[in-house]
Amino acid sequence: MRKKIVAGNWKMNKNYDEGIELFISIQQKLRDYHGECKTVVIPPFIHISRIRELIEVENLFLGGQNISDKPSGAFTGEISADMLWSVGANYVIIGHSERRKYFGETNQTCAQKINLAIENKLVPIYCVGEVVEQRKSGIHFKVIEQQINEGIFVFGLQEFKEIVIAYEPVWAIGTGLTATKEQAQEVHAFIRELISKKYTEKIAQNTTILYGGSCNPSNAEDLFSQSDVDGGLIGGASLNADDFIAIIKANK
Ligand code: PGA
Repeated sequence: MRKKIVAGNWKMNKNYDEGIELFISIQQKLRDYHGECKTVVIPPFIHISRIRELIEVENLFLGGQNISDKPSGAFTGEISADMLWSVGANYVIIGHSERRKYFGETNQTCAQKINLAIENKLVPIYCVGEVVEQRKSGIHFKVIEQQINEGIFVFGLQEFKEIVIAYEPVWAIGTGLTATKEQAQEVHAFIRELISKKYTEKIAQNTTILYGGSCNPSNAEDLFSQSDVDGGLIGGASLNADDFIAIIKANK
């Protein structure tokens, strides 16, 4: 059975004290949650080791927002997969559209990062998704297929099994425009079908595919009710503990 996950990507928000406060509030509200959805908190790097020490509830994990595509060395300002793992993270976002847009990440650099993540016991959350012009011109399936082909279908079965995918239509990120549940389901089913063709139906059924893009407490249940939507990658709404918990609880 595939895992249900809700992950909160804080992006470049919350200074150290604010971040610790937010985490404490999230954990407090999670104490009475005993559902099957895993929660992943993905703060800026500098919060991770302290939050790791504070974790007390089950089913609550930490992730990083990025890693270097190099294992170590003279790459000023970079954080390696091994470093991230060593402070207690279990997950890492790879290829978020903001990294692709502002930092020039390509499907190929994503594949290198995913390789390093897996070698260092991190679960990569690989982001794919089309920009608005691509959806308008109807080439979104092609774009997503290429992102999947070049970013993750380069791996063998053993590595592929470790990967979580997030479908994040770029036009929905931070815009308040959410994909409809039908639009999300259509793309998620398409991705699962690609996996089934490349690997096996069983692997496809076991792959967790998250939706991201303006997911909030009022639309989460609808989105997560779709058969191929296994949870969410949440930006803005993960910065508010009540909203984030409501989204986790909606992933039944
Ligand atoms: P959003 O961000 O929820 O603020 O739209 C989602 C994401 O970027 O992962």
